[in-house]
Amino acid sequence: MDKRKMPVVKTVGISKRYGEGVGTWALRGVNFDVAPGEFVAIVGASGSGKSTLLNMIGALDQPTSGAVYINGQNTSYLDENALAALRGDTLGFIFQFHYLLNEFSILENALMPFSIRKGGPSRDDRQWVEELFCRVGLQDSMHCRPKQLSGGQQQRGAIVRALANRPKVVLADEPTGNLDSRNGAMVFDLLRELNTTFGTGFVLVTHDDRLAREAARIVAVEDGRIVANYCVEEVEREASQLRHSEK
Ligand SMILES: Nc1ncnc2c1ncn2[C@@H]1O[C@H](COP(=O)(O)OP(=O)(O)OP(=O)(O)O)[C@@H](O)[C@H]1O
Ligand SMILES: [Mg+2]
Repeated sequence: MDKRKMPVVKTVGISKRYGEGVGTWALRGVNFDVAPGEFVAIVGASGSGKSTLLNMIGALDQPTSGAVYINGQNTSYLDENALAALRGDTLGFIFQFHYLLNEFSILENALMPFSIRKGGPSRDDRQWVEELFCRVGLQDSMHCRPKQLSGGQQQRGAIVRALANRPKVVLADEPTGNLDSRNGAMVFDLLRELNTTFGTGFVLVTHDDRLAREAARIVAVEDGRIVANYCVEEVEREASQLRHSEK
């Protein structure tokens, strides 16, 4: 298959049961994929399976059945080290519980992937990360440790960390959930700009309808199944044609 068109992440008929026996089926046969540079919003009621789907896509947890492919590789055949390397090269994670390390400044936290894998950040890497901190309004706080910062500032620090390594796709669970509307909009503008400028893909779980409508594609989850999957532009075009034909 053409490498440029190959989905960065793809799930094939994944189901997920939590617990033994009957358990809870959080996902039921989900097929989902993200092409390079796509901006997808996942919406659905609380408990519908959105976070579970995101965990599966990121190979943070294994499905009970079905397969998850990252960059064309079936993750069920990879050991933990290979999986960690694949994740590190391809994905960025913005989750509600951000695990910033308290003994380091948020700048050092964000530079960590470069320190671990590439023998230290280059001058360019450092400039890029500092630019990201400015973009989320943390230019004066990047040398602070997480504990010295508010929840919203920590959240923005975790967002910078997720973007630092220029991932192909960023998986985000309510990335603006802890932020007021001004900071939420600032973060969302940054994500959109990275999407258009660098073709970074985004899969974003959100309860915010306004944010969801800004995405290119909306996927609705209900009771562990995808019940709708549509391109926002197409729907809007059809709606406008309908309005015209009614006139
Ligand atoms: N670790 C777990 N153990 C047992 N059940 C779980 C676990 N995680 C999720 N579930 C169950 O799986 C279902 C889907 O949960 P999930 O967290 O994916 O929902 P969600 O759509 O992300 O909800 P929310 O919008 O509230 O975050 C729910 O019924 C939930 O109770
Ligand atoms: Mg959730």
